[in-house]
Amino acid sequence: MAEELTTDTPETPEQSEEQAIKQRKNGLYPGVSDELAENMQSGWADTELHGLEPIAQAAHTAARRAALSARFPGQRLVIPAGNLKTRSNDTEYAFRASTEYAYLTGDQTQDGVLVLEPVAGEDRHEATIYLLPRSNRENGEFWLDGQGELWVGRRHSLTEAEQLLGLPAKDVRELPAHLAEATGPVRNVRGHDAGIEAALADKVTAEQDEELRVFLSEARLVKDAFEVAELQKACDATARGFEDVVKVLDKAQATSERYIEGTFFLRARVEGNDVGYGTIAASGPHACTLHWVRNDGPVRAGDLLLFDAGVETNELYTADVTRTLPISGAFTDIQRKIYDAVYEAQEAGIAAVKPGAHYRDFHDAAQRVLTEKLVEWGLVEGPVDRVLELGLQRRWTLHGTGHMLGMDVHDCAAARTETYVDATLEPGMCLTVEPGLYFQADDLTVPEEYRGIGVRIEDDILVTADGNRNLSETLPRTSADVEAWMAGLQG
Ligand code: GLY
Ligand code: MN
Ligand code: MN
Repeated sequence: MAEELTTDTPETPEQSEEQAIKQRKNGLYPGVSDELAENMQSGWADTELHGLEPIAQAAHTAARRAALSARFPGQRLVIPAGNLKTRSNDTEYAFRASTEYAYLTGDQTQDGVLVLEPVAGEDRHEATIYLLPRSNRENGEFWLDGQGELWVGRRHSLTEAEQLLGLPAKDVRELPAHLAEATGPVRNVRGHDAGIEAALADKVTAEQDEELRVFLSEARLVKDAFEVAELQKACDATARGFEDVVKVLDKAQATSERYIEGTFFLRARVEGNDVGYGTIAASGPHACTLHWVRNDGPVRAGDLLLFDAGVETNELYTADVTRTLPISGAFTDIQRKIYDAVYEAQEAGIAAVKPGAHYRDFHDAAQRVLTEKLVEWGLVEGPVDRVLELGLQRRWTLHGTGHMLGMDVHDCAAARTETYVDATLEPGMCLTVEPGLYFQADDLTVPEEYRGIGVRIEDDILVTADGNRNLSETLPRTSADVEAWMAGLQG
């Protein structure tokens, strides 16, 4: 028997929760009888897990939280995972926890919040993770609530979460009231959880919150051992995804760039969490559109395929790799000429990645090589230094030569200029080196044979104590090696 939809104003959070469940029950399940409701309350086994080992990165997340604590003594710090976003009606986009939350906890649960509480009279914080606990089976939440475990799957109990994450865990539904009551300075990472922001609205300032965001961006500039291993894992899975793509180029020619995107996505989902950014499968002149993610164009023999993609691991570290492949298996003369120039520029860029080098050095080294080629080919009048000074090469080089890489594809994006682009490289930093040349199909300033050709080569380079290591080196880079590799895979 369906109950009346109540419109009473709830007075307590418990009443509000019960009323919400009742309303959902009436809206979604008008046929629920009291007998069924009672029946669903019991007869369930105790599935609590005992003696769980901490996650692999627990010691690293503790060290990351300690660094954060030391930077903001005496202040309450609130770092949310974020909420589900509606795609349409009652379906949502796939959830991806905020980078800051995952970095500090190793957890990826939607609606989770990490809070660092300053301990009175002591120079430290106590960290607590706030999560949704197991579903209550007695009040129907388990099966009548949209986030009930019957619908979305079993969650960890708070006790299990504590064992896994090495952090005390509390019910996230208590957090808004706790934050509302709390006194003293607070900072929040904005942009992830509107509910938390509303609860803190009159306690935080945009400037102080930004300082927290900047700190967490800069903290990630140098990767710890766990992060380096994750980035290597991401690059290795990505290399296998590139091989998958080469093997299906004939099928892509019969369909579209989407076949390539979909093939790589399969690898990303099987070996990792997702792709780390929108895959660029740019065939022919689409290679000259830097953010070509529509991927709905034809794939034609004789053209190049610029393929820029990265697997994101289950711990949310992504690779960012580009190869430009001759779809038919062999470069034409003009394609090879342009490709080899980009390769030479990338070599110069990679050689400039070493501890103590200025961050901008690798960009300058690659741009110089590309500019020398453009002058040599008669596309722009030299001397090279004049072209570089005026930036005239940028009509064809278009973008910077790389960026930091990590949990975000453009990692550490909130870092200050003085700690990132104006700083020097240190062991543990990881960056992409990705020069390119792009001749738009309608560029009347270059001979016709160049038009519609775009080439980029992108690798993920770790700064080491004595130089660098190319994490994506299993994928071939020279034009001859690319051709041999493709022939081997297509056999
Ligand atoms: N795929 C984005 C980039 O290369 O920066
Ligand atoms: Mn890329
Ligand atoms: Mn990149």
